Amino acid sequence: MKVFDNRNEMLKHYCQQITNPRILEIGVFKGELLGYIVNNCNVGSFDAVDLFTGVTCSGDADGNNVVYYDVGKSYIELTQMYQNNPCVSIHKSDSGAYLNGQPDNTFDIIYIDGDHSYNGVKRDLINAYKKIKDNGYIMGHDYEMNMAKAHTTYDFGVKKAVDEFCKEYNQTIIAKANDGCVSFCIQITKHTIVNEHDSSMNLIYMCVFHQESYINLLQLLLTSIQEKANVNRKTTDILIITSPTFYPIIQAQVSSIDLPLKYHILDIHTLMEASCCKLTIFEYKDIDKYNKILYLDTDVLLNADVNVLLDHDISSDKIYALEEGVIGHEFWGAQFFNFTSYNRDTPAYSAGVLYFRNSSAMKGLFSDINTHINSYMQHHGPPVCLDQPFVVYNSVMQNKCDNQFMKQYMENNPAYVSPTKIIYHFPGGPGDYSSKIHKMTAFWRKCKYLQ
Ligand SMILES: C[S@@+](CC[C@H](N)C(=O)[O-])C[C@H]1O[C@@H](n2cnc3c(N)ncnc32)[C@H](O)[C@@H]1O
Repeated sequence: MKVFDNRNEMLKHYCQQITNPRILEIGVFKGELLGYIVNNCNVGSFDAVDLFTGVTCSGDADGNNVVYYDVGKSYIELTQMYQNNPCVSIHKSDSGAYLNGQPDNTFDIIYIDGDHSYNGVKRDLINAYKKIKDNGYIMGHDYEMNMAKAHTTYDFGVKKAVDEFCKEYNQTIIAKANDGCVSFCIQITKHTIVNEHDSSMNLIYMCVFHQESYINLLQLLLTSIQEKANVNRKTTDILIITSPTFYPIIQAQVSSIDLPLKYHILDIHTLMEASCCKLTIFEYKDIDKYNKILYLDTDVLLNADVNVLLDHDISSDKIYALEEGVIGHEFWGAQFFNFTSYNRDTPAYSAGVLYFRNSSAMKGLFSDINTHINSYMQHHGPPVCLDQPFVVYNSVMQNKCDNQFMKQYMENNPAYVSPTKIIYHFPGGPGDYSSKIHKMTAFWRKCKYLQ
């Protein structure tokens, strides 16, 4: 690993490796780093993004000389200062919103120094990964402290987020800059992580724990799959994740159902663990056999050819689910969002049916959701909607969800049987067996009557 005395030297060095580099800085404050780079490096373009809202504080590169400043004023000052420099653009925006609006593989260097929380840095890294060119550099401030220069120690979420990102995306820190607040530098190699599945196998899975009566819902779901979904045994397996106690009961109850069933047995007990079980799918021993994965809650019926859905060429970095609710409500993660950066009315989705690829992006997302749940559960009881707020929050933060695509194939609590819908979901309160079995049985009768 290369070690530079300070970040200015590090940035100058890597700018020299590239002809007219395109640089993005996330978190600009008063423009100290921006000024250095524009005056000392052979910049092709420099985009500087900051919320530029309200009074905030920042130290220098060593974390010393902390000042409070109204960054709304910075925006005006920097816009005026660089108005005649065609290479420099100042953007008043949240970093996530800005990055999502940029084409992929655009920047040579991205320097992350905005929201320093673990979630904020992780989100910036994941978004930056898409927008950086192959072999480009993602750098950032405050990775760790160098007390030979810093007078105060800061404990940000940067190191955890960067180390996790490197592990999940198979990247390495190639350099550090030893200011008081140390900067990191990763040279991104995209080809090493683009190792997605080329298998054509699909997996449909469901989980049954906690309430034995839910085995009746599972039986109805499997019956609907057998009779209506046209499952192709050569390309699709169906996995039931359940407990050692329920396993023999399920086997007996579904013995007459002719489907390619597999079982994964987990010894879990609480309602929260039962609900989060869907998030353990990447730990299933045979998961590498499958490409596309469809998770179904047990309060679901299928009533048409599921291959229409499974044959779609879905993105490897999105989880597809049905729009429901808004992120401003606790059922969909309101307790976690920072509403200075997000609109409370942003549509959310139900985590009862999830469709995704077996990809590094999805594995990373599921791992982040599980980490979030585990740390939350150390100090709190389970939320009303159990895993759903965590699933929605993390996927929205990482821009990894699509809540529109499933609308054409799926409906919640339907009144009528539709010729185009494949999946019907019957949500009510979590654990409310009697209303679910009642609604599902009545609707299944309609499906049978219309066939
Ligand atoms: C430590 S200062 C940046 C210092 C600057 N990089 C420098 O070295 O001169 C952090 C800045 O990040 C900005 N910021 C915080 N959250 C942000 C977000 N979500 N999107 C964009 N900027 C953000 C703050 O407004 C603040 O100005």
